[in-house]
Amino acid sequence: MDMRNSITEVLGIKYPIIQGGMAWVADGKLAASVSEAGGLGIISGAAPVDVVKGEIEILRSITDKNFGVNIMLLAENVEEIVDLCCEQKVPVVTTGAGNPAKYMDKLKKAGVKVIPVAPSCAFAKRFEAMGADAIIAEGMEAGGHIGQLTTMTLVPQICDVVSIPVIAAGGIADGRGMRACEALGASGFQLGTIFLASDECRAHEDYKKAVVKAKDIDTVVTGRPTGHPVRGLKNKFARKMLDFEKTHPTIEEIEKFASGSLRIAVLEGDERRGSYMAGQSAGMVKEIKPVAKIIEGLMEDYNKRG
Ligand SMILES: Cc1cc2nc3c(=O)[nH]c(=O)nc-3n(C[C@H](O)[C@H](O)[C@H](O)COP(=O)(O)O)c2cc1C
Repeated sequence: MDMRNSITEVLGIKYPIIQGGMAWVADGKLAASVSEAGGLGIISGAAPVDVVKGEIEILRSITDKNFGVNIMLLAENVEEIVDLCCEQKVPVVTTGAGNPAKYMDKLKKAGVKVIPVAPSCAFAKRFEAMGADAIIAEGMEAGGHIGQLTTMTLVPQICDVVSIPVIAAGGIADGRGMRACEALGASGFQLGTIFLASDECRAHEDYKKAVVKAKDIDTVVTGRPTGHPVRGLKNKFARKMLDFEKTHPTIEEIEKFASGSLRIAVLEGDERRGSYMAGQSAGMVKEIKPVAKIIEGLMEDYNKRG
């Protein structure tokens, strides 16, 4: 099989570009815009089931193209979200923060393609053995919750141990990144940060503007002591949180400090209380554009470098 085309065939999309699920950010409108433009839009499933259902309806009122829902396996309502995806015949589910084994059969029987995020080779092999349709290999350049390895090291190692398509994520924001990941063995590319800076993204203008303004070294990782590190822009909230972490608080105290901070960033933009989650590629994102222009630009650059 031509690896370059395999992911577009598996997902039924035109371009090998996937918009990563992003809690609070990835709604039906953003995902529909990505799918309409030829990529795979993904709605965040990290919300009450009625909200996710509503976002699926919004997406379907805008596009009849394929899309996905991202399921956070640590969420309390994961069972309900899985059932919703089966009922709604959601074409693709991506999973994060754990092992989707328990839900695999149900999703596959409902005809849903399942693509887990794998933080290591061992997990990637297990996910392939249990019937995953592809694997997302996400490096720690990415925005949001991160693993230990970089995209540069994780993608080739996962490609070496599985034979299903691998989607690279983390640090990709132009055709060079796509080509580089292709050379590492990936056949698809998942991007999050670049879509924060889109017209259709619901994030507060101040959050979007901060992404555009960010330079190469402007992201920072918080939450390391909890074992669940998160990458975001070094704004007032992130600095306060890092200072707080230095006072040796308990895991519960750190989690309480961060709780609700992405919601505040997205809905209110307040940089003192809001976590502007974004990846290292923020330094490469120079303007806020319509999603269609972002995807057009990525594909133009990718084709130029072929
Ligand atoms: C604001 C934000 C929220 C995110 N939330 C999630 C999430 O809920 N689930 C998930 O699997 N990945 C999440 N991610 C990761 C993205 O899906 C994607 O893999 C990542 O952004 C790709 O790397 P990039 O940021 O370098 O483009 C999030 C990323 C960002 C920037």
